[in-house]
Amino acid sequence: MNNSTQKIMKPNERTMARLKAGCICKGVKLIRLIEAIENGATTFAQVAAVTGVGDGPCEGKRCRMKVEELLEQHHSR
Ligand code: FES
Repeated sequence: MNNSTQKIMKPNERTMARLKAGCICKGVKLIRLIEAIENGATTFAQVAAVTGVGDGPCEGKRCRMKVEELLEQHHSR
């Protein structure tokens, strides 16, 4: 993927993403989702395979939309 090295967020936003939850059920921070996408994940399934999100008690109801928004944000650049 040619834009996989582009950063999704500005540096100060990335700092905040280290603190924010990406997947509450699995205890995965938002920055891990971002890094997975920047490293080439192009689907929720791929992000889930790398980070472990999506198979918690809510079965992805809370984190899937977040991942899909990040994917769209990254790939619309
Ligand atoms: S928040 Fe990710 S599986 Fe529930």
